[in-house]
Amino acid sequence: MSVLIKGGRIVTAADDYIADILIEGETITLIGASLDIAADKVIDAHGKYVLPGCIDPHTHLDMPFGGTTTIDDVESGQIAAAFGGTTCHVDFCIQPQGLTFAESLAMWREKAAGKQAIDMGYHIAVTDLSAPGALDELATLPEQGVTSYKLFMAYKGALMVDDETLFKTMEVAAATGALVMVHAENGDAIDVLVKKALAAGNTAPVFHARTRPPETEGEATNRAIQLAHVAGAPLYVVHVSCKESVEPIAIARDKGWNVWGETCTQYFFIDETFLERPNFEGAKYVYTPPPRAKANQDVLWDAVRTNVLSAISTDHCAFRWDTQKSLGADDFSKIPNGGPGIENRLQMIHEFGVRTGKITLNRMVELLATNPAKLFGLYPRKGTLAVGSDADIVIFDPEKQVTISASTQHSKTDYNLFEGTTVTGSPDTVLLRGNVLVENDTFVATPGVGTFISRAKFGEQLHR
Ligand code: URP
Ligand code: ZN
Ligand code: ZN
Repeated sequence: MSVLIKGGRIVTAADDYIADILIEGETITLIGASLDIAADKVIDAHGKYVLPGCIDPHTHLDMPFGGTTTIDDVESGQIAAAFGGTTCHVDFCIQPQGLTFAESLAMWREKAAGKQAIDMGYHIAVTDLSAPGALDELATLPEQGVTSYKLFMAYKGALMVDDETLFKTMEVAAATGALVMVHAENGDAIDVLVKKALAAGNTAPVFHARTRPPETEGEATNRAIQLAHVAGAPLYVVHVSCKESVEPIAIARDKGWNVWGETCTQYFFIDETFLERPNFEGAKYVYTPPPRAKANQDVLWDAVRTNVLSAISTDHCAFRWDTQKSLGADDFSKIPNGGPGIENRLQMIHEFGVRTGKITLNRMVELLATNPAKLFGLYPRKGTLAVGSDADIVIFDPEKQVTISASTQHSKTDYNLFEGTTVTGSPDTVLLRGNVLVENDTFVATPGVGTFISRAKFGEQLHR
């Protein structure tokens, strides 16, 4: 099967030009001006942007959490991703207590079997190193294409690890070529604040934010940075939400330390006042770290523009409001933490980042595709448009107007964080390794088209 994409404006992290792209089988085989070549399918991209498929480095599909399981499984979550122009993501395989990493990965891969609509990988989330040989086993994972270790410094009594586990994992990463990822919040301090709030009868959703002040994120971010530096491990701080966390990342990067940070779409748009919405509507915005004071939004735009933060993910962790968020109707600490967003990242960042002039089109591609590909061992197979790359391509119509709504989204959840927002610019046609996934607002492929990607070790692709 061959596909010829004609006349589009090709935008990568580095380039911006009009050309045609020829795809043969699963890869891009030729890029040139006015290619006069017969193909099985010809797509007219005049007036459209042709972008590399976006990569979401932070998602949670079919994940047990907070007394329930995220509502999007691999199929629904990945179909939603495809509509949003995301053709590859790296999800979290959370090690269940007592299981080996091999058992954990087998269990999570089973959840994805036959359902994959886009390509994917797993980060391994380390929760338990107590079994004999656990560290040795962890050291084998990069050779198997699992090249990032995630640690939660919060969620005490659930996923949280102590500093010994954090530091030992960092030491393994330094030796094996894995990237350490941290959810950086001081879980012990937050636990004290949560208990105090509940004892005082403060049970409403807004206390989710009030018991997780930004300093608890800043402290943990700095702790992880210092420990990673001692261990000699590269560090990636996920879902950075506030100035207190941006600052230590900026300082470390200024010193040339191997530290990177990501923020998520929602932190640019949702602030802490959303949690005060009446009739339990505030629960829709209970995700962690929580929405912050509005002033942080400019700090984050500045950080992504100046390369203090290197990626924008979604942290898609979708629960239904009616049947799942309601678990915390009488106690904010029982509201499952997480929000949806896998489908709207490109639309929102294009509308409010590019169209307002905060970031360039090239920088948007870098934040949503190229940097995630480089950091997580997928580049240049993914994250750019080049001869030899996978033909993961978004044909993006910069004139298409869409009003974002839960009533038209593809996620199984019953709300959308950006409900009612109108954007100008949206994916039109989406291809994964040359297979058309989305056209005419329809998912036209068959789940199973996606596959697992064995990722390269950290650093091998960073400077390419
Ligand atoms: O609230 C969130 N972010 N839920 C998903 C788990 C995590 O902390 O990333
Ligand atoms: Zn987290
Ligand atoms: Zn997350």
